[in-house]
Amino acid sequence: MATTRKIVVTGATGKQGGALIKALLAKPSQPFDIYALTRDKTSRGAQALASKPGVHVIQGDFEHPEAIFQQLGGKPWGLFSVTMPMNAKKEEAEGKAMTKAAFEAGVEHIVYTATERGGQTKSDTNPTNVPHFRSKYNIEQDIKARSQASQHPVTWTFLRPVAFFENLGNNFFGRGFVAMWRLNGLDRPLQQISTTDIGLIAADAFLNSDSEEYRNKGISLAGDELSPNEAARIFKEVTGQELPYTYPVVGRSLRWLAKEQLGLMFDWFVTDDFKVDVKALRQRYPFMRDFRTWVAQESAWKKA
Ligand SMILES: NC(=O)c1ccc[n+]([C@@H]2O[C@H](COP(=O)([O-])OP(=O)(O)OC[C@H]3O[C@@H](n4cnc5c(N)ncnc54)[C@H](OP(=O)(O)O)[C@@H]3O)[C@@H](O)[C@H]2O)c1
Repeated sequence: MATTRKIVVTGATGKQGGALIKALLAKPSQPFDIYALTRDKTSRGAQALASKPGVHVIQGDFEHPEAIFQQLGGKPWGLFSVTMPMNAKKEEAEGKAMTKAAFEAGVEHIVYTATERGGQTKSDTNPTNVPHFRSKYNIEQDIKARSQASQHPVTWTFLRPVAFFENLGNNFFGRGFVAMWRLNGLDRPLQQISTTDIGLIAADAFLNSDSEEYRNKGISLAGDELSPNEAARIFKEVTGQELPYTYPVVGRSLRWLAKEQLGLMFDWFVTDDFKVDVKALRQRYPFMRDFRTWVAQESAWKKA
């Protein structure tokens, strides 16, 4: 009898991990037993996941990744790895510890979601000067090295998304994000993506892990490319409202106060920038949402 493949999904109550689980559960049938990680099993998000068929909610923390895999009652087949970027050194240490624990537990395929770093080819070799991009590059390198040295075959897929549309929330951070973005020039485009689409592609990567397309490949991901002016126009056409943002001084302060996380990244958008071939990607994944679709269907302002 064929055994079900167990996959551990980190960030399961968050945007990307949540989108992956949703994408898998939307399939008429899918071959995985999903182990959804949270730090708090009693949270609303975790309980909603626990009510889904084929989803087992497990409690754990990135600080003790071995304890996560011990809860499976058998070997993991897959790991969806999401890392937390507030402190890049910590992110790198936690990401590498998660990889190590997964290899020791016998994982066979890892999908690590990182960031785009200047194009499909360049992202393979470009750590960038943005601390939380570099930490993700280093985690990728560690996965590659462990895979080469491993006694049992372990394959990997790196998803490298650009900025999330979801940064544009109807809250202080959303208004601050737009203010920071506007400081780079009202006509300067920024590539962005819906996290729903990251989830759909992550699901495809697990379902086709052996394919030429996903086996040991890094994939740059973007759904649209638009400037603050274009975003404001589309937003108004869809919602009838102005795209909310806050004072430039707030944007400048956020970039200065959170230089490591935000300031250096917004500077990098000007000096280097994401370089995804959005048109080609849309041909491969025709479902990918552009900004207009995201505002209408998924944003906080979506029409009833
Ligand atoms: N925003 C962007 O534009 C953008 C673009 C490209 C890449 N990224 C990257 O995307 C990543 C974040 O992904 P996301 O936005 O999908 O996450 P998210 O929505 O912020 O959710 C965070 C998830 O991580 C879990 N988590 C947090 N700390 C944890 C810990 N110590 N141990 C175990 N689980 C923990 C949370 O689970 P519980 O709360 O249930 O424990 C939650 O499920 C970051 O690395 C960021 O750099 C972001």
